[in-house]
Amino acid sequence: METIRKLLVRPEFTMGLPTVIPALRYRMGLFVRNRRFKRRPPHGEFQALGRVLTVKRQPGGAWLHAQQGHIEIRFWASGIVRLRASQDGVAELPLSYAVVEPDETPAEVTYEDTPQALTIRTDQLTCEVDKAACTLVIKTRDGRLIVEDTTGFRLRGEQVMWSSRLPDGDGCYGLGERASGVNLRGRRYGFWNSDLVRYRYGSDPLYLSIPFLLGLRPDLAYGVLWDNPSRGWVDLGEATPGEKTFFAESGEACVYLMAGHDPQAVLSAYTALTGHMPLPPLWALGFHQSRWGYDEEATFRTLAHQFRQRRLPCDALYFDIDYMDGYRVFTWNRERFPQMPALLKDLRAQGFKPVAIIDPGIKIDRKYDVYLDGVQRDVFLKYPDGTRVAAPVWPGRCHFPDFSRPHARAWWAEQVGKLVQAGFAGLWNDMNEPALINLSSDKSLPPYVMHEWEEHPRSHLAGGHNTYGMLMARSTYEGLRQHRPDARPFVMTRAAYAGAQRYTSSWTGDNTATWEHLRLSISMALNMGLSGLPFTGPDTGGFHDEPSQELFARWMQVSSLLPYFRVHTIAGSRDQEPWSFGEQVESISRCALERRYRLLPMLYTAFAQNAQHGTPIIRPLFWLEPRNKALYDVDDAFMVGDALLAAPVLDEGATRREVTLPAGTWYAFESGEMQRGGGRITADAPLDTLPLFARAGSVIPLWPVMQYVGELPVEELLLRVFAGTGESVLYEDAGEGMAYRDGETRWSTFTTSFRPSGEFVIEWHRSGAYQPSYERVRVEVVGISGEPERVELDGGMAPVWYFNEGVVEFVAGPFERARIIGREALTPFLDETRLHPPH
Ligand code: GLC
Repeated sequence: METIRKLLVRPEFTMGLPTVIPALRYRMGLFVRNRRFKRRPPHGEFQALGRVLTVKRQPGGAWLHAQQGHIEIRFWASGIVRLRASQDGVAELPLSYAVVEPDETPAEVTYEDTPQALTIRTDQLTCEVDKAACTLVIKTRDGRLIVEDTTGFRLRGEQVMWSSRLPDGDGCYGLGERASGVNLRGRRYGFWNSDLVRYRYGSDPLYLSIPFLLGLRPDLAYGVLWDNPSRGWVDLGEATPGEKTFFAESGEACVYLMAGHDPQAVLSAYTALTGHMPLPPLWALGFHQSRWGYDEEATFRTLAHQFRQRRLPCDALYFDIDYMDGYRVFTWNRERFPQMPALLKDLRAQGFKPVAIIDPGIKIDRKYDVYLDGVQRDVFLKYPDGTRVAAPVWPGRCHFPDFSRPHARAWWAEQVGKLVQAGFAGLWNDMNEPALINLSSDKSLPPYVMHEWEEHPRSHLAGGHNTYGMLMARSTYEGLRQHRPDARPFVMTRAAYAGAQRYTSSWTGDNTATWEHLRLSISMALNMGLSGLPFTGPDTGGFHDEPSQELFARWMQVSSLLPYFRVHTIAGSRDQEPWSFGEQVESISRCALERRYRLLPMLYTAFAQNAQHGTPIIRPLFWLEPRNKALYDVDDAFMVGDALLAAPVLDEGATRREVTLPAGTWYAFESGEMQRGGGRITADAPLDTLPLFARAGSVIPLWPVMQYVGELPVEELLLRVFAGTGESVLYEDAGEGMAYRDGETRWSTFTTSFRPSGEFVIEWHRSGAYQPSYERVRVEVVGISGEPERVELDGGMAPVWYFNEGVVEFVAGPFERARIIGREALTPFLDETRLHPPH
């Protein structure tokens, strides 16, 4: 029904012959071709590898020949081990789109080889093979268990499976986009990117799957990358409690394992393996307004005017499929957008960055130059018999570029130039599971479609499907780099595979305007961050159906603290701009937007931390206390960067909520009220309030409110300091352009501490060549209970300072050291720090 509803949404999609005939022909084609190319179903039982017969030592590991197959063990680095299992023991490593350097110089290893067991050690890990069963146990050097095979690797025809123990209580996270609570334990999850239309809690798989699992127990965090892009699944204790199993329908088992004391260590290793997100342009962290149905020039002009006139900060306006000429990608409708370049230029002049949607389906149309050129340059996917794949999407029957061919990627990148030249600033990649619009239940291409896979052809089932979205995003990214080399690309995608963070951000697809989906916005974004692809967020307000005023207001509050902040909705739904729900919601939205823009320096720092170390931008509370099992399932609150804890209201009608605060001392961000952590508190949260807390000892940098990034040079940086002992960082660069790659950056470290002599000291250490635009710094130290005796800056008296309601405030230039002196004023804190040692 939903497909039909979608088809009927636009007048162009009347279910007339042009749509029905291709759909029927497609279905019949499927039937005919299926009969011709059907793979024989695998039969028989899965076979374990059996006894190890020979061991061949290799640099960084060994190659084991067993009765029913082979295993290669190789330490990619001393803390990361790669296991490969296959029937035929093919020596060549299959091409991986996930891993950046598959053959990194292997680590130094030592061996212990007895008739019963083989043990290989690095200075961080130990891998023991039981030769009788060819099963493995991998531990940290100090004996903490990472993986213990149960049945180990098993093979059946082209299929592979790998089962190992899932110790009681281990939290399970990652896996890309999952419509679930944050802890994924206890269920099976598919690896097959799918456009489910109207997903809900428990629907699986969705558009974007990443076969990376982060496991957590109090003494260890570990990561498992199942680098097999074929259709498959992972079972996290659903079939057999206490066991996890990965399964793939084709290809060899190729697994990377890593571990560390905390999730940060695992994310660092995982992003060393699969690459880091480059820094996006700073404007992409601003607010984005979208809807399916903004379909003419006048609408965009009005939108731009409304945002600026109402003083609702906004950076990006989205052009959904209606801008195209009959849904032909890389064109625009000349009647509804007669002066597209002039429109985009005007929008840009007002500070808006126009973002255009592109879909992979290229309409089969002899009057369409992109189609003709694509055919001529042979860029499209083919069936095994060499004919081009044709299937229906928005414009009717389409061909689909084979993004696994370098020359098809280059062709796509060339097409991207047309949109760049028109003036678009970013590109939104949609329908790239790839999804079809047909009447069939299988809404993607047939499994036997062939992908060139850089000259090692693979079927759609064996990898072409799951990597399709990622490779489209890559081609788009490369196009933006090529055509606008001085600007940072902004790409967003719906589908992806492991490693896609190197090219793109994402969003959580077609959600629904319900309270359940509001909640999912958080857990989904958290797990994406734990899968290495952190720049994500939901369709704020919901794509399907219509939010109430209250739901929209609450969603604006939540999304204002998620990495990606966009409002979007389906064609034909009610207006969903922040002013469409009446004055109260408009003012709540303004407040959320202004907070977002004030927090930009802090958010951008979190992006920079991600770009360097893979640290997620928003983090589950267990990030602070990985040993505290009480935090393993918390997903109604989250950390933003290192210092802020957001506990938004997620229930209809609620005006207060319980908040679990991790150990330590916390402050309410706005009021400065101090809270003791390590338990639950109740926070008041009337509709205009989002409970937000700051860790004691943190320094939160804030910008003045601006209507868009770069509106005015920042003349004053505000440092909101929350009294306590701690360390905070701030990253700064130009926010655009590539100079940051050549060192035009600045990292600041703020260290705050109490001195028993009766001082609170803030030390500011800066390093790097970048010079920000401001010379003035306003400091607000929150939580000082009495009037200090004096404030000193870099050894001299502060020119002016104030004390008001627990806040010491002063204005200065960038300083090295500020001291707030006054035993009386600080006594409670001196006691407090004794009670709560710094985290
Ligand atoms: C898909 C996208 C949605 C978009 C629509 C029309 O459903 O997920 O965001 O609005 O297509 O392009």
